[in-house]
Amino acid sequence: MLPATPLRSSDLRSPAKNAFKVAAALDAAAVLGVIYMVHEAQWLRRVDRRLEAPTAAADLHGLTIVQLSDFHVGFRPSFNLRAMRKAVDMALAARPDLVLISGDFACGPHGRAELQLRLRRLVDAAPLGVFGVLGNHDHGDSKAPFVQPTDPHLIEDCGVRLLDNGTASVNVGTATVQVGGVDDTDGGHDDLPAVLATLDRRPGVLRILLTHHADVVLRTEPGDFHIALAGDTHGGQICLPLPGRRILLSDLSAPFAEGAYDVGGGRQLYVTRGVGTSMLPLRAFCRPEIVVFHVVAGAPAAAGPARESA
Ligand SMILES: [Fe+2]
Repeated sequence: MLPATPLRSSDLRSPAKNAFKVAAALDAAAVLGVIYMVHEAQWLRRVDRRLEAPTAAADLHGLTIVQLSDFHVGFRPSFNLRAMRKAVDMALAARPDLVLISGDFACGPHGRAELQLRLRRLVDAAPLGVFGVLGNHDHGDSKAPFVQPTDPHLIEDCGVRLLDNGTASVNVGTATVQVGGVDDTDGGHDDLPAVLATLDRRPGVLRILLTHHADVVLRTEPGDFHIALAGDTHGGQICLPLPGRRILLSDLSAPFAEGAYDVGGGRQLYVTRGVGTSMLPLRAFCRPEIVVFHVVAGAPAAAGPARESA
């Protein structure tokens, strides 16, 4: 039998030391993770997509349409103002013919002057105009604290045309683009039938549905619109790679999280991650984005993959 070796005091301290080291490493990892997520929240990407509309008039071929969404200007603390500036600069660089903004412009008074400045720049740059719809935050309706409604005149004074359950048409040569805008559905401000009642259903007209909430598309019929553009979900915003955890800050039952969908009957839908953040000023595995649609009209065209660039 071996003689017992007496324990030294340093042996007794080792487990405590190891636990401290582990805790320190976890703390450091958490801090680094938060720093990264703050960075990602401002790391805009540009997504280029083809908007296939073979039944739309050939005059519309090559049109560039930029979708922006969910600026959430005024949400504090956040870097949403910075992300919004980057998004607008990126949109201007795309030389858009038309800009469509799918809601949640602002949720507080901070930074509204800056928002107006950038909206005016978009209006000056887009020859066919800038159109928008309001989101739930614009109406002051949110789970996030301290959200205040936005006066629609602040947006309209910049030259942005808000579509409050209505349509607007712009002409390109002899062709027409019609945008139908549905107001926020969360607060019951929506009236899709009013939009449908004023649709221009002549052959060749490119019809786009603009809505904050994507599920509105489920109430449309095939042929009503060539595409529906929505926001709201932020793509999940914080999308840690856990099964079943795609949407963290949004409605878990939301049928459309982000990206392109074929809803059936030829109904196309794109749900953008948008630009800003809500609840937490963080993003993970879900970079904010602007979307640049290149209209392919007048003839069937070979499908191409989506393209992304930083
Ligand atoms: Fe939003």
